[in-house]
Amino acid sequence: MKCDFLVVGSGIAGLSFAIRAASLGTVIIITKKQEIDCATNLAQGGIAAVLSEDDDFKLHIEDTLKSGDGLCDKEVVKMVVEEGPSRVKDLVDIGVGFIRSSDNKDNLSLGKEGGHSRRRVAHAYDLTGKEIERALLEKAKSIDNIQIIENRKCIDLLMDKSDNKNTASKCVGAYVLDEYGIETYLAKYTILCTGGVGKVYLYTSNPDIASGDGVAMAFRAGAKIANMEFIQFHPTCLYHHDAKNFLISEAVRGEGAYLINSKGERFMAKYEPEMMELATRDKVARAIDQEMKETGADCVFLDISHKDKAFLSKRFPNIYGKCQELGIDISEKPIPVVPAAHYLCGGVLTDLHGKSSIDRLFALGETACTGLHGGNRLASNSLLEAVVYAERAFAYIEKQWPAVSNQPFIPADDWKTDKAIDLDEEILINHNWDQLRRIMWNYVGIVRSSRRLGLAAQRVSDMVKEIEQHYNDFHVTANLIELRNIAIVAQLIIQAAQLRKSSRGLHYVKDSVSEESNGLYWNIVTRVKDESEYPWQSELCEQKIID
Ligand code: SIN
Repeated sequence: MKCDFLVVGSGIAGLSFAIRAASLGTVIIITKKQEIDCATNLAQGGIAAVLSEDDDFKLHIEDTLKSGDGLCDKEVVKMVVEEGPSRVKDLVDIGVGFIRSSDNKDNLSLGKEGGHSRRRVAHAYDLTGKEIERALLEKAKSIDNIQIIENRKCIDLLMDKSDNKNTASKCVGAYVLDEYGIETYLAKYTILCTGGVGKVYLYTSNPDIASGDGVAMAFRAGAKIANMEFIQFHPTCLYHHDAKNFLISEAVRGEGAYLINSKGERFMAKYEPEMMELATRDKVARAIDQEMKETGADCVFLDISHKDKAFLSKRFPNIYGKCQELGIDISEKPIPVVPAAHYLCGGVLTDLHGKSSIDRLFALGETACTGLHGGNRLASNSLLEAVVYAERAFAYIEKQWPAVSNQPFIPADDWKTDKAIDLDEEILINHNWDQLRRIMWNYVGIVRSSRRLGLAAQRVSDMVKEIEQHYNDFHVTANLIELRNIAIVAQLIIQAAQLRKSSRGLHYVKDSVSEESNGLYWNIVTRVKDESEYPWQSELCEQKIID
C-alpha cells in the first residue's frame, strides 16, 4: 500500500489533519476497530477556547499554566490558546453543531470545568465528542483523496536505514495487521494519532483501543518520549458493575454538583477550600482517593440532585439517560463515582508543529507531548490541542511538500514470518494483560511510593521480556500487539515516575523528596542503544529545564 500521508487513528487529531492534508496528496487513515472507536467519540465536556466577551487569552493561559503545576511550555500554551478560537470556528464551519447560547444565537453556549476561571467550554451538551467525530467523519468521507480503512492494527513503524547507520533517521511507513496477514504501508509522512494509554490501568474512562500504540511504536523506533509519569485520573467515572468506562463529565461539577463521601459529608473544603469541586483534576482525584481510603468505601458520590430534572435531562442527556438506565435518577439521588485513568499528559515529544524527533514522523493529540499540559492537563484543553496541532502540522508539511512530493517511496522489506507459529495458549496473553493492569493500578496509581514503584519496575520488566519472547516466537495477533504496547508503555511510565523524585502535578509520591532544587524540568527518554541485554529499556537523554 502506498500513500502520501499515513494517518494512524481516526479521532479528532487524525481526521482534522487528514482533511487538510488531502489538499496536498493521498491520505490513508487506518483505524484499529471501527472508525468511531476512539476517545474523541466518548468526550463529553467539550473544547476549551476564549469565546466570550468576559474572557481573554491571558486568563486561559494562566489557568492552563496553573493546572500544569509549573511544567507547561509557556510558548506552547500561548500559541495554543491564541489559535484556539480560530480552530473552534473551523469546526463550526465543518458542521459541528455546538450548542448556541439561549440569549444570543450568534454565541456558543459555554460550559465550565475544573481549573477554569471563566466559562469557556464549547459543547454539544454531554455528547460533544460524538458530534465532533460525526462532523469530521462526514467531511473526511466526502473527500476523494481520503481512504479510511477499519480493523487495521499498526504493528511497527518502518524506518529508512539506507544511510547504514542503523539508526532511525526517517519514518517511511508502517507494518499493519489486517484479517489476512501483515501488509507494508509506505508513506511520505506518518502521523500518529492513536490516542492515549488508559488500558494500561485496570480502571479507565478510555475506549478499548487506548493501548498506547503510538507511544510504544515511536519509542521502539527511537523517538524521544517525555513526561510519561503524568497520567491524569479523571475524578468522576461512574461506579456501577454494569457500566464500563463511563465518565460523569466534569461539566456536571461545573453546573454545581458537589462531592460527598460514604458518610454523606461534603469533603472538598478539607482539601481545596477555595476551588472546592472545581479544583484541578489532580487535586480532586487525590482528595477522592484519600476519602475512599479513610472511609474504606468503594466509591464517593457526586450530587446534583438539587438541580431541576428538566435542566439535567436537557444539559446532560447522555449522563442522565445512562444513569436512569442503571436505576439512578440523578435528579433524586447522588451518583456513585470513582477516579479512573483518563489521559496521558506526556507522550511522543514533538515540536511546535507536531513533529517528533524522527524525520517524517508526527504525533498529534493525546499521543504527543507538546508541552501544553505540563504536569496536569486543564479540562477540555485536549480537543483544543488536537485541532491546533493538526493545523500546524499541515502548515509545516505544506511548506515541505514541493520538495517531498516527487520523491520516490522508500522501499522497505516485507514482514518476515519464517519461524513464527500460532500461539495455542491464549491464556498466556490474557494473564499478562490482567496482571499488568493490576500492577499499574495498585503500584503506579494516583498515590505512589518509591517502594511500590520499585516493585512495579521489577515485575513489569520481567513481563516485557516474556511478552517480547511471545512476539518473536509466534504469529502476531491483535491481542499480542496491544499487550506488547501496553507493557512497554507501562515500563515507560514507571521509569519516568522513578526519575521524578518529588511530587508534582499528577505525579504524587508519598515518600517524595523535597521540591526539585533546580526548579522545574521534563525528563526526556529514548530507547537504549544496546538491545541485547534487555529489550526496550529507556534511558534519560535530556532534561529540559522549564523556567
Ligand atoms: C469531562 O467531560 O469531564 C472530560 C473532559 C476532558 O477530559 O477534558
